[in-house]
Amino acid sequence: MPAFSLSIDAAQLLAQIHTLGAIGADESDGGRTRVAASDEDKLGRDQLVQWMRDLLLEVRVDRMGNIFGILRSPSDEGDRQPLMIGSHIDTVRNAGALDGSYGVLAGLAVVRAYRAAGVSPKRSIIVAAFTNEEGVRYQPDMTGSLVYAGGLPVEVALDLIGTDGTRLGDELARIGYAGDLEPGAILPREYLELHVEQGPILEAEGQLIGVVDNLQGISWQKITVRGVANHAGTTPTRMRHDAGYVAAAIITFLREIVVGAAPETTLATTGSIRFEPDVINVIPRLATFTVDLRDPNEQRLQSAERQLSDFLAEIAEREGVTIECERLARFEPVIFDAALAADIEASARGLGFSYRRMTSGAGHDAQMIARIAPAAMIFVPSRGGISHNPREHTDEAHLVCGAQVLLDVVQRRLAAD
Ligand code: GLV
Ligand code: MN
Ligand code: MN
Repeated sequence: MPAFSLSIDAAQLLAQIHTLGAIGADESDGGRTRVAASDEDKLGRDQLVQWMRDLLLEVRVDRMGNIFGILRSPSDEGDRQPLMIGSHIDTVRNAGALDGSYGVLAGLAVVRAYRAAGVSPKRSIIVAAFTNEEGVRYQPDMTGSLVYAGGLPVEVALDLIGTDGTRLGDELARIGYAGDLEPGAILPREYLELHVEQGPILEAEGQLIGVVDNLQGISWQKITVRGVANHAGTTPTRMRHDAGYVAAAIITFLREIVVGAAPETTLATTGSIRFEPDVINVIPRLATFTVDLRDPNEQRLQSAERQLSDFLAEIAEREGVTIECERLARFEPVIFDAALAADIEASARGLGFSYRRMTSGAGHDAQMIARIAPAAMIFVPSRGGISHNPREHTDEAHLVCGAQVLLDVVQRRLAAD
């Protein structure tokens, strides 16, 4: 390890988390909403870019709106690839302050440690904020990092139409973040992402640091059921083609298969549903809803998808409705880089922090960047395992410990050159 000593400015990191968390604040309940490429996302981006400039970073924005703050190493030669630290600052609706933002701002805290010590890193360090990680407005999720890693052509991504009918490319241009850098232009030698766990495991086990060595597969579909609208008071049950009932039956079926599976690793969620005409005394003629399926094992994920598809065929026939499925996202499980995970573990141990190896249940940009560079993640505990909720919380001391691990891993990697 290097002779000089670097440290995280805890107060500054926590203050920035607080300031960014106040942007896009919801009217009540302490949440915030900065969905990708919205006006609120622009305000968050502007603040982030300002902080990058304050640290005298070179700021680049690519065609996907991904933002990069680059701390150049004077010893950088063309073939010395940078170390990248990244995450996202877009949010779900009515979100907590930490999901994504913590990782980006901890990246700035690492850079600030170098700046404060007057030390230049042996390789350049890039802090990245990727566009539309959450996938709330545009699907697939993790769009910016997916494109960056070559998993989707940029033109296709910019043409994505959002849930509000907007085109992603138009919205990025409108908010001033349609950059000119080609996605993927800067290939990192390694990628690190620090994130709140968003689940209950670390807290329940009294562990401080999660060394994340794999991430489960994700399957997103939109299902449209077309039945026949009819009178709620006059139509006998056996004569109904009730899109609402069929939607409910599908959701119930999903719960049954995941609970019945052994091991019980598959997760199924319907987070969005809409009926038409959506009135109390009319049998719905249309139901549209989403299905989010996840499993760390690709075969089990495929099995859940197959069971769903068989059930759709069966219930469509039985109820006299038609059912269409649209694929919104599909990502296989990812195994992170073993050497990088070992470095995270060594840093946690060296700092005297308790830790455990774990799987990420949430999707992350690291899962995409793992296609082009060794990647791994660091987790800190989430109180009560709550996330995607304004009540998301991690103790300040734990947030600082996570950033210290990140800084230590960065120093470890750069010292190894
Ligand atoms: C992102 O937060 C996801 O896992 O859906
Ligand atoms: Mn996140
Ligand atoms: Mn999230």
